[in-house]
Amino acid sequence: MSKLDFPKNFYWGAGNSAPQVEGNNLWNDWHYYQETRNYIKTGEKEGKAADHYNRYQEDFDLAKKLNHNATRLSIEWSRIEKEKGVYDQKEIEHYRNVLKYLKKMQITSFVTLHHFSNPSWFTLSGGWTRKDAPETFNKFVEVIVHELGEDVDYWLTINEPSTYISLGYLVKGLPPLLANPYLAYKASRNLFKAHKLTYQTIHHKIKNAKVGPVLNVQLMTDRKNKTDGPLKNIVNYWANFYFGDNMCKYADFLGVNYYFPIRIFKNQKDTDLGWEIYPKGIYDALLKTWGRYKLPMIVTENGLADSSDSKRAAFIKRHLAEIHQAIKQGSDIFGYLHWSLTDNLELEKGFWPKFGLIEINFETQERKIKPSALEYAQICKDNYLEIK
Ligand code: BGC
Repeated sequence: MSKLDFPKNFYWGAGNSAPQVEGNNLWNDWHYYQETRNYIKTGEKEGKAADHYNRYQEDFDLAKKLNHNATRLSIEWSRIEKEKGVYDQKEIEHYRNVLKYLKKMQITSFVTLHHFSNPSWFTLSGGWTRKDAPETFNKFVEVIVHELGEDVDYWLTINEPSTYISLGYLVKGLPPLLANPYLAYKASRNLFKAHKLTYQTIHHKIKNAKVGPVLNVQLMTDRKNKTDGPLKNIVNYWANFYFGDNMCKYADFLGVNYYFPIRIFKNQKDTDLGWEIYPKGIYDALLKTWGRYKLPMIVTENGLADSSDSKRAAFIKRHLAEIHQAIKQGSDIFGYLHWSLTDNLELEKGFWPKFGLIEINFETQERKIKPSALEYAQICKDNYLEIK
């Protein structure tokens, strides 16, 4: 047995996003495209989802019980600004209550401002390809910073821009369901600008704020598990660092999401979604990202679809061991937020992929802690990992 100690004050927790758990997001583009284009592959609709909007206290009580000292959530832009330029005070109060509750529970908040969904009016008028998109988003950010600035601990600007652009603008996965490289390029540039404006807006109001983007880092890795070489360097740049290089100029820290590496030959299908489980990939991702940007990093997502919960505990431990190794090699990593706190709406796939530490019965909304969550809870409590 050996004991892997994590740094003092390490953040332990899990994450979720508003469009995937809140329920009844009637004003966002996901809702619009569900109604008009039926884009969720199973034909399902968001409906109540995990009803987190009404049950956030119950969910955060469970997180506390599981020894989480941090959590990741997102503020749904479309709830706050249902109509362009009109900000809904009742919804602002809702998020104020959520954030105050987290403070009361002594759970540190990592708050995402853009997690894939947009108000319908925004998307239908051209969305992220519009010239004024960054300023439009920034107006929402100004409202949030003014109203809720005091209550947020860490700000996450834009979640996984590379995933959003490829799903939304290249492969018709998420709204606006496009396959247009030129528009993908335009939208990317506008996301970079929106990130920069957001960073500046927050810092203008809160001098010592901590603001960062969330990057999905998946390195191209060959059969011998090498991540360097001419082709790999090109692919890795476009898949990861094109976004990172543009956003990390304006960042106090970085959120890193890791699921699996990019492979030319995919021969391993380990999770319910057929994704490879390759823990060393998180070490590679963190070390490369640290080497390139030298920014403190927190793992903002890492998880798997595992309906039987038979692989999750080992998955978490094996990834944590690699994170520990990355810290030992000198990279500054200050937390781990598993994806996800509860089962949720897995984007265009529907509700069947089960990512949660907590099971949700979507019929009854009953919550049940999964065995893996208890194993993870012990690590959160101990601040170390025991390995054989
Ligand atoms: C996203 C999450 C999603 C997860 C699993 C990430 O790309 O940020 O919203 O649920 O991956 O697919």
